[in-house]
Amino acid sequence: MEKIRVFASTDYDVLIDSGLLPQAGELIFSAMLPDTGLDSLDPMAARKKAESTTAVIVSDDNVFPLYGETLKNSLTESGYKTIEYVFPHGEKSKCFTTYEGLLEFMCEHRIKRSDMIVALGGGVVGDLAGFAAATYQRGIAFIQVPTTLLAAVDSSVGGKTAIDLKNGKNQVGAFYQPRLVICDTDTLKTLPKEEYGCGCGEIIKYAILESEEFFDELLSKPVSEQYEHVISTCVNIKKHYVENDEFDTGLRMKLNLGHTFGHAVEACSGYTVLHGQAVAMGMAAIARAASGMGLCSKETEVRIMEILDRYELPKDITYGLEEMYDVVLVDKKNSGSVTNLIVPTSIGNCRTMKVRTEMIKGWLEEGGIVD
Ligand code: NAD
Ligand code: GLY
Repeated sequence: MEKIRVFASTDYDVLIDSGLLPQAGELIFSAMLPDTGLDSLDPMAARKKAESTTAVIVSDDNVFPLYGETLKNSLTESGYKTIEYVFPHGEKSKCFTTYEGLLEFMCEHRIKRSDMIVALGGGVVGDLAGFAAATYQRGIAFIQVPTTLLAAVDSSVGGKTAIDLKNGKNQVGAFYQPRLVICDTDTLKTLPKEEYGCGCGEIIKYAILESEEFFDELLSKPVSEQYEHVISTCVNIKKHYVENDEFDTGLRMKLNLGHTFGHAVEACSGYTVLHGQAVAMGMAAIARAASGMGLCSKETEVRIMEILDRYELPKDITYGLEEMYDVVLVDKKNSGSVTNLIVPTSIGNCRTMKVRTEMIKGWLEEGGIVD
């Protein structure tokens, strides 16, 4: 088992291995021991405390039928009471209505501050459940159990929690770290092909950002044949960014490689284009623009296109220049009249460029977006 400790406002472990879900109850029990004020020297008292704790399992209607029962049984065997809140899958559920429904559900069931939320699912479940955990009674413990590749390598780690508003993605949220992340790679076996591709989009992002060696590994062997290695490499990269800039005021912005244009694609499509696919298109566009402006070599651009092709990810943005520009303007990462663009300079290196907003149209054009 890979165990990666993240040091942030709350420290926690990210556990990565096959076969972890059936052990989730005991893994959570161990991770929560410090919260009980008891220690492993008093196992009976700690177990009694678990028996008075309710785990609220939050999941979606695809994931819960697949893995809910295993998680519930494991939690019950460890002494926890469980209740579940299951909502329809998809980005549309990452909204105020689902969030409010979850809070009311917890309140009705008299969930208290010493209880916890266990998020079982992809980034939609994790972001929404994490935000509910951050805000319910001013904060209760939460555990991430990512079941998509994207959630395993990105959204389950780092404490960004959020819901969408009608006029913008992730517009309401909080930085709130989980107490534990349990990534059982067995759950990835049921992931639909396009969701696998989305995770690969974020994985390629880490390689372009940080490591040519990792980039080459992704080209020489498919991600699906090296899950544990790939997930732990990505989590270690993300750990570095989170530990050095937990609240996203500088360094961490680099994790938005491909996201500025990617978010615009998602918005233009009415969120029908999946996040990881949009990030892939965003990375292709920024690589084209960087190469066109002489900020990286043509070879770097070609290699980025090659790896996106290898993972069958989309590269071309079909939305028009004006439409894309309008959406980039309202992206939350714009501060004043400046937009932070993350620009690849070579494989394994990127720089943050502060671009005056009126210049963004030129970048979009260089990125291959036309009217
Ligand atoms: P998702 O949660 O919608 O999951 C994708 C689909 O796969 C859903 O239909 C889900 O039901 C299904 N699914 C999940 N696990 C499955 C499994 N094991 N087997 C079969 N089906 C399964 O999407 P996602 O791609 O995981 O996450 C996207 C969300 O994450 C977006 O809202 C994005 O904004 C957010 N995100 C957050 C962060 C962060 O740092 N918090 C980072 C990246 C993305
Ligand atoms: N997914 C980007 C971040 O966590 O900062």
